[in-house]
This record gives sequence, structure tokens and C-alpha cells, in this order.
Amino acid sequence: MRLGGPAAYLAHVHSPADVVEGVAWAEARNLPVIMVGGGSNIIWRDEGFAGLVLVNRIPGFELAEEGGQVRLTVGAGENWDSVVARSVAAGAAGIERLSLIPGTAGATPVQNVGAYGQEVADALVSVEAYDRKARRFVRIPAAECGFGYRRSRFNQADRGRFFITALTLRLVREQPRGPFYPSLARYLAERGLSRPTLQQVRDAVIAIRRARLPDPAQVANSGSFFRNPIVSDRHAAELLGRYPDMPHWPVPGGGVKLAAGWLIDQAGFRGVTDAETGMGTWPAQALVLVNRAAGSTADLLRFRQKVQDEVLRRFGVLLEQEPELLP
Ligand code: EPU
Repeated sequence: MRLGGPAAYLAHVHSPADVVEGVAWAEARNLPVIMVGGGSNIIWRDEGFAGLVLVNRIPGFELAEEGGQVRLTVGAGENWDSVVARSVAAGAAGIERLSLIPGTAGATPVQNVGAYGQEVADALVSVEAYDRKARRFVRIPAAECGFGYRRSRFNQADRGRFFITALTLRLVREQPRGPFYPSLARYLAERGLSRPTLQQVRDAVIAIRRARLPDPAQVANSGSFFRNPIVSDRHAAELLGRYPDMPHWPVPGGGVKLAAGWLIDQAGFRGVTDAETGMGTWPAQALVLVNRAAGSTADLLRFRQKVQDEVLRRFGVLLEQEPELLP
């Protein structure tokens, strides 16, 4: 978002040993420590951060065959899309629909990155991390990561506790199989790709994302700014009575997921620029807040409030912010 105050200290870490050294350096000075990847899903507070930011640059990309499957171990500091590109080039499926997502590999389990019907949790075997509480490196199996929609223990109960250093993923040597997410299915069908290759799925996702989402290198944004809300069956039925065309997906186990982008769009906020705060939303996807001319995180939070208030007033749904607000 290109907002927020400065950090007192910042260091790039290139190995697990660097992480230990960075933590020790900060502890010796009684300073708090935060680890970041690409920073694309972080909103920094205007006060800045009176501590040490460790920027994860730990490299690594190792593919190993394992009984018809592929085991991929990557350093947390690798660029995520380059990990996807190399997996696809190697004929390994499982993360191709997560193409062009900004940020580093190590950040993907934190919010359980997901797009076009795939989630990183589906392919993840385990993460390696420095456990600040136990003061040692641990390997956490996927089943113990507390994964849910845009959630994990790393952004919930154990927020800030683990500094992720590596991921192990299980991929498969298979051609992509449907059903595909609606926009992806439509894109493939329009091009007559009834049996797309992995590369064709990756290319399709990239084309769809480029058409719908702003490039953070050019327009300051953090992708989807809110989680898609899950409401009760009763609430959904009431809304569907008023808005029969409202996109909605029943959630296994109860409740109905709604499209935050649709709610914001209907509330009149698609493609707007708010004169008071300099914030706005992307014309092709109202769920993406963009910084057009905002001067501070306070401006962003004021605009967030306007969007939340209006969606709450019209639909009775309180939207929950998705990017992390730090520190
Ligand atoms: N819609 C509107 N108006 C809008 C935006 C969306 O009417 O301005 C409608 C769409 O027509 C569609 C529905 O809302 O019927 C859902 O929209 P879309 O398919 O674009 O997906 P989304 O739910 O808005 C989620 C993820 C995206 C991910 C896409 C594709 C969340 C919070 N967001 O968006 O993730 O790329 O699905 O899988 O779950 C991100 O997290 O940064 C991100 C881009």
C-alpha cells in the first residue's frame, strides 16, 4: 500500500543461521522482531516499528521424485510465482492455479493463500520454522497448521511466534483436471481448451489476474482487502430474497459464503476514488482497495471504515480485513 511509518532496523536473512543471529541481536537490545516476505499483504501503521524487521531471503528449490509424486522443498524467501513457474515447467501439478500471487513462498501458509479453487494447504506437507517460544527450529506438519479459509495458526493463535524458513509441498505428475473455478472454466472454454496442460492453466490464471487485478508494482494495493464473509443460512436466505442474483456458496458444515467484492460493488464502491482519503477501489474488482493519493495508513483505515459501514448498513454483514495490520 506504500503507507505507514519506518522501521528502526531492517536486515535481510539468507539462512536459518541468519534468523537466529537476527533474533539474538534484537533480544540483546530489548527490541521486538518481525519477519516479512515481500510485504505485499501487510499494512504498516503510521507510527512505524521501533524494532527489527527481518526480510526473508532464504533460497532453495529442490524437487525429488517420491513414488509417482513429487516432493518439493523451497526456501521461504523464494519468490512464490517463480516457485509456481518452475513446478509447472517440471510437470508437477498442485499449485499452478496460484500463479502470479505476489510475495514469497514462506508467506503463503500464513494466510493459506488460495485462488481459482486451489489453496496452498492442499499441497503443503510441512513447514520449517524458528519457534520463538521454544527457541529452536521445528517442523510443523500441515495437519498442525490450523488451516482454514484465509486462516492458519500463523495469523491466528500463534501470530508472530514462528518465523517460517522452508516449505515442503507434495505435487503430482498429472494433467490438470476440472471442475475449474467459474472464471477459469470460462476462459479455457472460450479458447477451446477442454484438456488444458499445466502451462495452459498457469497462462490462463495469469491472463485472468492481469485483466482483473492491479499490478502492485504499478498501483499500490494488497489484493483482496477483505475476506469473503460467511453468514448463517437464515441471513443468506433473507439476502437472496432481496437479491436473487447474489453470488453465494454453501459452506460444508453450515453457513453460506458471500462475495465481499459483490457486496462492496452493490454498495456503490466499485472503481471509486474517495476525495477525502485518497483511497479507492479497483474498477474491475471492488474487493481490491487501491492507494491513489492517500498520505497515511489513517486515511486507509478511514476509507476501510466507510466501506465497512455501508456494507453493514445495506447487508448486515461486517467485512473482516484480510491483510495483516502491523506491528
Ligand atoms: N464481483 C462483483 N463485483 C466486484 C467483484 C466481484 O460482482 O467488484 C462478483 C463476481 O462477479 C463473482 C464474485 O463476486 O461472482 C466473486 O468474485 P471473484 O471470482 O473475482 O472472486 P473473489 O471471491 O472476489 C477470491 C479471492 C481472490 C482470488 C479469487 C479467485 C478472497 C478474499 N479473494 O476473490 O484472492 O484471486 O477468489 O479465486 O477469497 C487475494 O486474496 O488477494 C485474491 C485476489
